[in-house]
Amino acid sequence: MDEEVLTTWLEIDLGAIQHNYRLLQAISQRPVMAVIKANAYGHGIGGVVPALTQIGATWCGVARIEEALEVRRFSREIQVLVLGYTHPFWVEEALAQDISLTVFDPQTAEAYANQARGLGRELRVHAKVDTGMGRLGVLPEGAVDFIRWLMALPGLKVEGLYTHFARADESDPAPTLKQIRHFDGILETLTALKLRPRWVHASNSAAIFNFPQARYDLVRAGIALYGLHPSPETPLPSSFRPAMALKARLVSVKVLPPESGVGYGHRYVTRDHERIGVVAAGYADGIRRVLGNEVLVHGQKAPVLGTPCMDQIMIQLDGVMGAAPGDEVVIFGRQGEGFISVEEVAERWGTINYEVVTNMMARLPRIYIDPKDDEENG
Ligand SMILES: Cc1ncc(COP(=O)(O)O)c(C=O)c1O
Repeated sequence: MDEEVLTTWLEIDLGAIQHNYRLLQAISQRPVMAVIKANAYGHGIGGVVPALTQIGATWCGVARIEEALEVRRFSREIQVLVLGYTHPFWVEEALAQDISLTVFDPQTAEAYANQARGLGRELRVHAKVDTGMGRLGVLPEGAVDFIRWLMALPGLKVEGLYTHFARADESDPAPTLKQIRHFDGILETLTALKLRPRWVHASNSAAIFNFPQARYDLVRAGIALYGLHPSPETPLPSSFRPAMALKARLVSVKVLPPESGVGYGHRYVTRDHERIGVVAAGYADGIRRVLGNEVLVHGQKAPVLGTPCMDQIMIQLDGVMGAAPGDEVVIFGRQGEGFISVEEVAERWGTINYEVVTNMMARLPRIYIDPKDDEENG
């Protein structure tokens, strides 16, 4: 679609995602499972999956079976692991679409095995161990017995074993080292018993950088793939490139007289004659309804006045002479010399970059910058 006619949109730089993926491969020296749950962290499965398969990505991870099925609309080849819970109802579909599921309790594992056996098939599964996240997974003390039992269960093929770190992005390594010790203990026993599954994995983005000893057979990267920092304590190297920008059009510009209220609750009142712009983006696009937002117009920062409305924000244009209806406004991303990072926005909204990008609403068209337009890809 011609960008000229768009009012409010997300621009997704697929070349940046490919570039970041290659950096993660080079740094980890491992196959990289691209974590593309939550619509590829808001970037859009339909754009991200073809871009990843184009450069030979072999694994991706999603949270739900519905997301795995969505992935299959774009790639038959990429291996897909559902990281969250899947109801046994879905086993037939998972088999038909060659999707791997996570198992973390005997009852569900048996239900999966029964379904698969009934169909004369073997379901691919990864066993999950809870080494200290306090979320999904069998506890370390029961892990070896669980895996031994799983491996003997007809109907399942245990191809993977994994855990997840709770604090790999923090400056104190102790909690993650403890998780690694638990995991390594289990692996040692399984290896001695010749029960070590083919794919052992643990690292999220932060751990790829902070705990090289925990890369095992595969690393699982989400946030870094999109060029966003795992945390303030674990910033990405400057070679990574953010992939998402939120953009909208300036749709109205007018001068309001002094003492004019702007927006619901008149949370801003003009002091003088002021040039007020209306931008077609609001909280129903994913902008947080707080005071103190800023945007870029002509590459310069302009304050958002009052609180965002559902579909629009009002901005102060006195510092940006020449701004006119139809101009592009950047809520986050780059514009000329100006840049507003997702991290800066997250701080204003009292949250983390993960939440900012995953909260970009479905109504926003995702406009993909084709990798072949990217300088690196020729
Ligand atoms: C099980 C699992 N692995 C990997 C990831 C990717 O984490 P990150 O985005 O920090 O790389 C997530 C995301 O939360 C996850 O839940």
